[in-house]
Amino acid sequence: MFYNRLLKVYKHKSKQAIRQNISCYRVYDHDLPEFPFCIELYDDKVYLAEYLRRHGMTDEEHEQWLEECVAIICGILPVDDAKVYIKQRKRKANRLDQYEKTDEKAEYFPVMEQGLQFLVNLTDYLDTGLFLDHRITRNMVRNECEGKRVLNLFAYTGSFSVYAAAGKAASVTTVDLSKTYLTWAEQNMELNNLKDETIHHFIHADVKQWLKTLQPNSFDLVIMDPPTFSNSKRMKDFLDIQRDHVELLNDMLAATTKGGVIYFSTNFTKFVMDNAAINASSIKDITKATTPFDFEGKLKRWCYKMER
Ligand SMILES: C[S@@+](CC[C@H](N)C(=O)[O-])C[C@H]1O[C@@H](n2cnc3c(N)ncnc32)[C@H](O)[C@@H]1O
Repeated sequence: MFYNRLLKVYKHKSKQAIRQNISCYRVYDHDLPEFPFCIELYDDKVYLAEYLRRHGMTDEEHEQWLEECVAIICGILPVDDAKVYIKQRKRKANRLDQYEKTDEKAEYFPVMEQGLQFLVNLTDYLDTGLFLDHRITRNMVRNECEGKRVLNLFAYTGSFSVYAAAGKAASVTTVDLSKTYLTWAEQNMELNNLKDETIHHFIHADVKQWLKTLQPNSFDLVIMDPPTFSNSKRMKDFLDIQRDHVELLNDMLAATTKGGVIYFSTNFTKFVMDNAAINASSIKDITKATTPFDFEGKLKRWCYKMER
């Protein structure tokens, strides 16, 4: 069953990937409930996340079953088993441990996306360093940002920042609460020869508090891609995106130029935007337009474009 399904989806997706010149993409995402995997290709490497559930197998049986699955994957995808990186994830990760380290191998390697390079790490964190579902949104930012002051909030490893710098933004400000991810973002900039301290800045801060310090008319194009929930010793209060999105967006709009744009994205599936309370002149749902071929019918995030 798994062999047939994986073969079918890989044939279909690899054709589209070749057509679009994409070498990092999602191949399989929970297509069969008995095989609860997410499988992504990063050039010549495979990231295989297994979502743990009650499977009724002993540890030995489970190990054997997983080995058989890996053999199937290697029989279909162009990789050998040494290049399959297995990660076991809880179905609902604890809200608080979503950014914790899961290993210490420190194997970072560069991958190419739409002409730019990014460091990924398939072993040490819950996520790889590059969220593949925002590939189209990143390109939109690159195409629109020339001469603009760009702000990337909740920036993670700075992939939006790299696209903005490559798109000749006048400046790029990258903000995140994690020093680890900010360093990673700087390395991504450096990898693309885009590091320039005179115009690109990296800020270690809690976005919610930091937005209150901004002057009006500070930025022209903003990317805001917050987690659904976040809590940390550095924060005065926790962040709950459903509760806090109006405050975050209105604080941001107050610091955005007239006619400026905010790209807002959230992974909270039950998210409801309180349009009436947001001081934007327009809010457009661009979820569909920003869904790449490998996430069609599977995407569980929302994306909006709003103008001040
Ligand atoms: C969903 S990721 C953002 C993904 C990113 N936009 C991208 O496309 O690669 C969320 C990020 O928010 C950061 N974060 C969480 N709470 C924060 C806060 N209160 N202030 C600033 N950054 C925060 C995390 O460290 C993490 O890097």
